Amino acid sequence: MSRLPKDFLWGGAFAAHQFEGGWNEGGKGPSVVDVLTAGAHGVPRQITETVEADKFYPNQVASDFYHRYKEDIKLFAGMGLKCLRTSIAWTRIFPNGDELEPNEEGLKFYDDVFDELLKYGIEPVITLSHFELPLHLAREYGGFRNRKVVDCFERFAKVCFERYKDKVKYWMTFNEINNQMDTDNPLFFWTNSGVIVKEGEDPKDVLYKVAHNELLASAKAVIAGKEINPDFKIGCMVSHVPIYPYSCNPDDIMAAEEAMRQRYFFADVHCRGHYPSYALKEFEREGYDIGIEEGDAEILAKGTVDYIGFSYYMSTTVKADVHNDNTGDIVNGALSNGVENPYIESSDWGWAIDPVGLRYTLNRFYDRYELPLFIVENGFGAIDQISEDGQIHDQYRIDYLKKHIEQMELAVNYDGVDLMGYTPWGIMDLVSFTTGEMKKRYGMIYVDRDNEGNGTMERCCKDSYYWYKQVIKSQGENL
Ligand code: BG6
Repeated sequence: MSRLPKDFLWGGAFAAHQFEGGWNEGGKGPSVVDVLTAGAHGVPRQITETVEADKFYPNQVASDFYHRYKEDIKLFAGMGLKCLRTSIAWTRIFPNGDELEPNEEGLKFYDDVFDELLKYGIEPVITLSHFELPLHLAREYGGFRNRKVVDCFERFAKVCFERYKDKVKYWMTFNEINNQMDTDNPLFFWTNSGVIVKEGEDPKDVLYKVAHNELLASAKAVIAGKEINPDFKIGCMVSHVPIYPYSCNPDDIMAAEEAMRQRYFFADVHCRGHYPSYALKEFEREGYDIGIEEGDAEILAKGTVDYIGFSYYMSTTVKADVHNDNTGDIVNGALSNGVENPYIESSDWGWAIDPVGLRYTLNRFYDRYELPLFIVENGFGAIDQISEDGQIHDQYRIDYLKKHIEQMELAVNYDGVDLMGYTPWGIMDLVSFTTGEMKKRYGMIYVDRDNEGNGTMERCCKDSYYWYKQVIKSQGENL
C-alpha cells in the first residue's frame, strides 16, 4: 500500500461533551447534552426539562478529560498523533450563551489544553459547536429558531478566534449539522439546534428556518475568523452516510439521488454560498418561508468554507417501491424506503460496515465541490472485553480501521482526491452520542467506566493503540 504525504494530518477525535466531564466546574453552565439521560440500542435518550437529581446523565462526568488532560495528551503523543480534533464547550466560555463577556476560567482551560498539545507537536483541530449549545439558549430563546442565537454564536466564535488565533489553525463551525434533516428523531433537532418541535408544527418547515439561521451563523463565523487570522482554515462538518440504490432499476437510482439531497443540503450551502435549486423548488412547492432577510444572501456567499470535514461510519440503501415505517430509527431514520444491503455486514448497533463507501464518499464530495476534504470521524463502536492477560485485543477494530484506511489511500493515490487528514473517532473511550452508553466503545485507549458511571477511570492502551502508532509512523504504509 502506498504512503500518504508527509504533512497528512493523522490524528484522533473526540468532543468536549462526550469526553471532558467537569460539567459544572470552572464556571461552566449546562448545555443541551447535560439534560440527556442514558439510552441503549433501540432505547432513546430522554431530554429532561432541567437537571433532575434522581436521573443519571452520562455526559456530565464522561471520561474526565477535564481533570486528566495532561496524562491523556501524553498518551496521544505516545501514539505519534499529528493532530487532535476536539470541540470547545460553548458553555465553558459563555455559561448561558447570551452574556456579553466570556468566562475567563473556561478560556484558560482551553489555553492549557492547546499548550499541552502544542508541547508535543500535536495540532489542535477545533469544532466550535459539537452538540454543546447552552441550555439557556435552548429553553429561553428556542435555540436556533431564534435569530438572536446567531449573534450569540458569532460572539462565541469571535472570542475563540481572537483568543486562540496563534494556537489553532484548523476550525470547523457546526458538527454534523445535517443530522437534523432526520426530523423524526428529536435527539438530532435538540443536539444540533436546541429545538423541540411543537405539536401541530410541520417539522420540515421548522427545519429549514433553523437551518437558515445556522448556515448564516456559520458564514458569519467564517467571515469573522478570516478577518482575525487570514491563515485560518475553517471548514464545515457534515455527517455522511451515502445512500445507495438497491438495484439498477432507474426508479431505485432516482430514489437514491433524491434521498442524497438530505445528505448534501447543508454542505451545498456551506461550500457554494447559496441554496441549491432542488431546495428552492421544495420551499416553493411546500410554501416554506425560511426567513431570509436582506443581506443574508451576501453573507452566505462570502462565508463559504475552506474545506469539508465529515464523519463516515456506514452506508444505507433505498428501494423505490418500499414504504416502511422505520422513521425515527437511529440508523435508517427518515428513509421510509430504506432496506438492508445484502452485501454488507453490520455492527452490534446495526451500523453497516462498508469501507468502499468511504472511497465512494471521498470521490462524490471531491467531484461535487473540488475542495479539500478531512475525514474527522470514522471508527468502530464495539463491546470490548478485558482478556485474562489484562489487555484488550481489539482485532475487530483494527480490521475495521485498516480496511477504511486502505480505501482512503486509494482515493488519494489512485483517484486524486485532496485529503487533509484522518482523525478516527473516540480515540479514547467516551460516552456514545446516540445511546449515551460507555459500552459502545470506539477508543484505542480503554477507560474504566461503565454505563452506570462505575469504574476507576483508569486508562489502558488496547492493541489498536500500538497498531495505529505503526500506521502513523509509516505514513499509512504499514497497515
Ligand atoms: C457522530 C458524532 O454522530 O458519530 C459523534 O459526531 C458520535 O458525536 C459519533 O459519538 C458516533 O456515534 P455514537 O452514537 O456511536 O456515539
